[in-house]
Amino acid sequence: MFADEYHLCADLDRTLLPNGLAKESPEARRLFSVIARQPNVSLTYLTGRDVHRALRAIDQYDLPLPDFLITDVGSSLYDCRLTDEPVLVDEWSERLRQDWRGENSDSLMQKLAGVPGLAPQCGLPRTELKLSFNVEINEMDRALSALRVRLMELGIQASVISSTEEVLGVGMIDVLPPSANKKLALDWLVQHVKWHRSRVFFAGDSGNDIDVLLSPYPAVLVANAEQHLKDRLMEAARVRVCADNLYVASGQLPAELPSMNGNYAAGVVEGFLHFFPENLSWFRARDSLSVAS
Ligand code: GLC
Ligand code: MG
Repeated sequence: MFADEYHLCADLDRTLLPNGLAKESPEARRLFSVIARQPNVSLTYLTGRDVHRALRAIDQYDLPLPDFLITDVGSSLYDCRLTDEPVLVDEWSERLRQDWRGENSDSLMQKLAGVPGLAPQCGLPRTELKLSFNVEINEMDRALSALRVRLMELGIQASVISSTEEVLGVGMIDVLPPSANKKLALDWLVQHVKWHRSRVFFAGDSGNDIDVLLSPYPAVLVANAEQHLKDRLMEAARVRVCADNLYVASGQLPAELPSMNGNYAAGVVEGFLHFFPENLSWFRARDSLSVAS
């Protein structure tokens, strides 16, 4: 392996996929691909989507194929290096199954039926270790408390993750085994593939990314993230003394790159260069910069 490697890890919806309300800069995804295609860079996507919807989005938005895919908010992990089809890493699933001691999303959905404010997400396939609900945004706190009370009454430990979806204006709550979230899945991967932690870089935009954004991994919150989340995360990072590891994109790029607004993939490029400015030369190579070609 390369001594000088980087591990580019990013959320999909509204981080790399420009499917929010903000505008994407025209060069954003092309410059993201300049980073992703370097021989010493591995690529991992971490998403709330299931594997099929993740692959569809990668294809639809013409994103580079990843080496690893962490789906279902960290409750599934796929190795994409070996064959054309992602291969489920069963060791991770098995570990999470043990957490839930025989429960799965079907059995828990029945036990959680009737918690006020929670509407099971329909139209999306339910995966074995993740169950998800839609919630009215202004009912979020109440629904979270009611859910926590019910889980406690049932004696079930779970990781409960809330996010908001700005386009549809809905809140979403995911219930996962207690060892599952994007950060814990990434930690497991980092340990198993023996990556150097300081070279693992993450980009995200919303609720289900918070655990990674507030971790010791260098991370960027893209500029299109909601302002209240930017404020909340910067404050939380200060309290946890990890503010140096969290960067909020705002459209500040070295002068030799095309000017971009920091939204979506532009924010990922900006954040990567903030932490690893030594790699600006990648963009100087022939055909990397449209302005230079
Ligand atoms: C994705 C998933 C959904 C989940 C949401 C937030 O949209 O499809 O099930 O609730 O991410 O994590
Ligand atoms: Mg997102």
